[in-house]
Amino acid sequence: MARYAHITGWGMSLPARVLTNQELARTVDTSDEWIVERTGIRERRVASSSQTTASLATDAALKALAAAGLSPRQVQLVIVATSTPEHIFPATACLVQDRIGAVSAGAFDLSAACTGFVYALSVASQLIQTGAYQNAVVIGAETLSRIINWKDRSTCVLFGDGAGALVLQASSRPGGVLAFSIHSDGSGGDALSLPAGGSRLPASHETVEQGLHYVSMNGREVYRFATRVMAAATREVLAKAGYVLSEVDLIIPHQANQRIIEAAAKQLRLSMDRFFVNVDRYGNTSTASIPIAICEAFAAGRLHVGDRVVLVGFGAGLTWGAALLQWVAHAPVPAARWRLSGLFIVRAIAWLRSMLRRLSRRVEAFFFGERGDTGHQ
Ligand code: ACO
Repeated sequence: MARYAHITGWGMSLPARVLTNQELARTVDTSDEWIVERTGIRERRVASSSQTTASLATDAALKALAAAGLSPRQVQLVIVATSTPEHIFPATACLVQDRIGAVSAGAFDLSAACTGFVYALSVASQLIQTGAYQNAVVIGAETLSRIINWKDRSTCVLFGDGAGALVLQASSRPGGVLAFSIHSDGSGGDALSLPAGGSRLPASHETVEQGLHYVSMNGREVYRFATRVMAAATREVLAKAGYVLSEVDLIIPHQANQRIIEAAAKQLRLSMDRFFVNVDRYGNTSTASIPIAICEAFAAGRLHVGDRVVLVGFGAGLTWGAALLQWVAHAPVPAARWRLSGLFIVRAIAWLRSMLRRLSRRVEAFFFGERGDTGHQ
């Protein structure tokens, strides 16, 4: 029997701090007019010192689970697509798995820059459709404010922080993720990168002095690439699933730049009202932009049961890709809304459990530390 990966829950988390173009214009040589005209961005969110990629991801994931009515204990897989992981390792997904109390889940990060959410959705949906997993939580989460040079006007005006999550569950009813296409062209890797901090150029005084731990971007090159691939990826994913553009109800593009979205609309010969756009309020939140837009599209009444929706993105790598969904979920039931108020308890229990596990490791080390069986004679 055919299996489908349905989207049954969705949630987002945004820092409260709003940074407007006017505020930025006080610290770098830019203006609200320039930013709005070239990008469509008016403001973005910036994480507080206590917020991290994992904390935003955890908030979004718990909201998505509450909406799906799925207990964290039932979760089998956590994927975090991110360009700003907390560490090179451990994976941010493992931190999230621990904080939400997904005690039975496997967890890993996925790195495909701004296309990361489309990639992660493709992976999770395939693991569900093959029967390997019953469910997965797919998260896009970023604190890009931490890797931006706030003195570089060509990049600092573009990005923002946030997280969005979807819960995918197996179903025998047609719907959910119908098709995807993902691509990469590593020859364009230098157009957008974080030069230092990896194994090729480990962090050092020199890399910091040269600002190599900040985002480096050739904006015009990325712009040209983006406008080439958005329409092509949309057409490709539709062809794979056997649909045509007129059968698509909504396109939710990666929110990087209003002009890039308009260029894609023009190439597809579609009016802008077929696209969901919120780049004006959040800037480019990389992997988080598509799931945040899905949450807002649903809240705005732009997603209905049966709708066909294309998600399409591009990013560093270079990477690009699209996914075709059939929306199957209704609004969260009242019981799920009630569960939202229980999120604090879920979090507290997960925290307590994590503490107890840490403690038990310490106790084990104390008693067996030196003499413990490490496999050596
Ligand atoms: N304020 C004022 N002037 C600026 C600013 C600014 N914030 N930034 C650049 N300028 C200046 C430049 O210095 C340049 O001046 P010059 O002509 O004297 O040299 C002039 O504006 C034009 O610069 P361009 O780079 O040609 O401007 P453009 O119209 O291409 O817009 C932008 C720049 C917005 C970055 C655009 O190229 C773009 O959106 N590119 C795609 C970026 C993107 O989407 N990146 C994310 C990819 S997803 C991921 O993986 C993270």
